[in-house]
Amino acid sequence: MKVVLPGGTGQVGTILDRALTAAGHEVTVVTRHPRRDRQVGWDGVTLGRWAEVVDGSDVVINLAGRSVSCRYTDENLRAMMDSRVDSARVVGEAIAAAARPPRLWLQMSTATIYAHCFDAANDEATGTIGGSEAGVPEYWAYSVAIARNWERAQSEAPTPATRKVALRSAMVMSPDRGGVFDVLLGLARLGLGGPVAGGAQYVSWIHDEDFVRAVEFLIERDDVDGPVNLASPGPLPHREFMRALRAAWGVPVGLPATRWMAELGAFALRSDTELLLKSRRVVPGRLREAGFDFAHDAWPQAAVDLVGRARSSRAARRGRAGAAASRWRS
Ligand SMILES: NC(=O)c1ccc[n+]([C@@H]2O[C@H](COP(=O)([O-])OP(=O)(O)OC[C@H]3O[C@@H](n4cnc5c(N)ncnc54)[C@H](OP(=O)(O)O)[C@@H]3O)[C@@H](O)[C@H]2O)c1
Repeated sequence: MKVVLPGGTGQVGTILDRALTAAGHEVTVVTRHPRRDRQVGWDGVTLGRWAEVVDGSDVVINLAGRSVSCRYTDENLRAMMDSRVDSARVVGEAIAAAARPPRLWLQMSTATIYAHCFDAANDEATGTIGGSEAGVPEYWAYSVAIARNWERAQSEAPTPATRKVALRSAMVMSPDRGGVFDVLLGLARLGLGGPVAGGAQYVSWIHDEDFVRAVEFLIERDDVDGPVNLASPGPLPHREFMRALRAAWGVPVGLPATRWMAELGAFALRSDTELLLKSRRVVPGRLREAGFDFAHDAWPQAAVDLVGRARSSRAARRGRAGAAASRWRS
């Protein structure tokens, strides 16, 4: 297949590019900064020559959007909204203008669209869309608005020959450097991987292998369209999530952090506490109904697998650095 990945240079794009290329597909990444073969330039806002790669492709998977790991200032929130809505709109325009439109448009969305909740798990049919919860910071509603507008930009696009699926993804866990798992593991290794603000908030997650498998499954399943949750069936409270991660690496303790310590830490990391404190209890209703089987459905086992891969890639990096140093000395 010919697969086009707008915004495919980031964490999720790297995972998909690697897996789909290894499976023999022809992957083209659309980016604001093309640097290598199979990368095409765009601005994420306007139609241009880049749209030629969409014409005649089989699948477009749009991942573009300003990183959410930042301080939620007005300016950053606006950029998070615009980069998602504009890129989804212009991808729709490219598909609408194509003489040979792709048969499928997978549009990244987010599990953050669901309400902050602790009790009933949210699936696509019965889940509660967030934005009007009591007792949470007002600006959390903005993240829900981003997700809704993002999905609307896709659903309203006039692309009758193309099936459309919005991927309401939970945090994708992969050992790649700089990804969310890498950051959490780094904190755990420093002894800082304790519960935050009591740790009762739910963490929804999906193992990178299952993320790729779910994308491949959705490509095959012509009968599935609309929003689909990409989350393991085993979301769990943050306290247990971090305990399993510490156990997988072998860290005996994790300092707990209060809400204000989390605020301070997020400030230092130029990030925002919503990422840590919002309770996301999201489950894969439609994937399950369609017969998708998760290879990693329980976090403790998934964490052991991810830690094993993180250790191997660290050892490989050390090996390469050692070899380079000895070449330099000789
Ligand atoms: N990672 C997760 O666990 C997760 C979970 C749920 C949802 N998501 C969503 O899935 C998408 C991909 O996630 P990710 O972790 O791969 O994100 P990422 O690492 O931040 O990558 C997103 C890509 O979007 C492009 N981009 C950034 N700002 C842009 C702008 N103003 N206009 C156009 N393109 C822009 C960048 O590509 P260039 O700089 O090369 O143009 C960047 O590589 C994001 O929208 C994210 O919110 C991610």
